[in-house]
Amino acid sequence: MNQDQLKQMVAREALKHVVEDAVVGVGSGSTVNFFIDALATIKGRIEGAVAASEASAERLKKHGIRIFDLNSVNELPVYVDGADEVTEHLHMIKGGGGALTREKITAAVAKKFVCICDASKLVPVLGKFPLPLEVIPMARSYVGREMLRRGAHPELRQNFKTDNGNLVLDCRGLTLLDPPAMEAELNNIAGVVTNGIFARRPADVLLLAEAAGVRALGARLA
Ligand code: A5P
Repeated sequence: MNQDQLKQMVAREALKHVVEDAVVGVGSGSTVNFFIDALATIKGRIEGAVAASEASAERLKKHGIRIFDLNSVNELPVYVDGADEVTEHLHMIKGGGGALTREKITAAVAKKFVCICDASKLVPVLGKFPLPLEVIPMARSYVGREMLRRGAHPELRQNFKTDNGNLVLDCRGLTLLDPPAMEAELNNIAGVVTNGIFARRPADVLLLAEAAGVRALGARLA
C-alpha cells in the first residue's frame, strides 16, 4: 500500500466519527483532502462543514457541501484534521500547510478532535518536523531572535502568506520534551499569532493508517 492509499483508508475510517445532521469541522492538508472526498459520499447526511483553510473550503464547495462560518455555528461535535507529527499522547505538530491558526481555532471549538495520519507521522518526541509559527509581519525579526535564544533555527517560509495575511517561520532544532509548556511559552512571544504545537488541546482520537489496517488510539474512541 502506498502513502496515498494509507491516507485514503484512514480518511474513510474517519467517516465513522461524523455526526449525522450536524456541521463537521474540516482541517487541511493532503490527508484531509481524502477526507473531504470521502465526506462527499455522505453529504446528504450532514448539515455542512466549517473549513480551517480557504483551500479546504474550495474543495468542499466543489463537492456541493455547504460551508458555514465558524461564528454562525453554536457547536461543532467533531473536527477532523491531519498532523505533521503526532505522539502517543496525541500531542501534535501542525501547520506544514500554513493553516495552523484557523486549525487551532476550529479544534478549540470542537467537542471531539479526530486526527487522521499515516503511520509515518507517529514519533516518540515532537520536534524533528520544523515547528511553524504564524507571525505578524512587523514582528518577524524579533520573533526570529527569540527563537534563536531558545536554540531553534528559524527560517522564513518563502513566497508564503497565511489565509490571515501573516508570515510563517519554520523553526528547526527544537526537541519538544514538554509540548504543553512550550506551546504556552511560545504563545507569549509578542507577534506570534499561533504556534504549531497542538498539545494544550490535543486530539481525542488518533486514527493511524498502517499496512495492516487503521489503528485507533485515544481515550474517546466512540
Ligand atoms: C496544515 O496546516 C497542517 O496542519 C496539516 O494538517 C498537516 O500539514 C498535515 O498535512 P498532510 O495530511 O498533507 O500531511
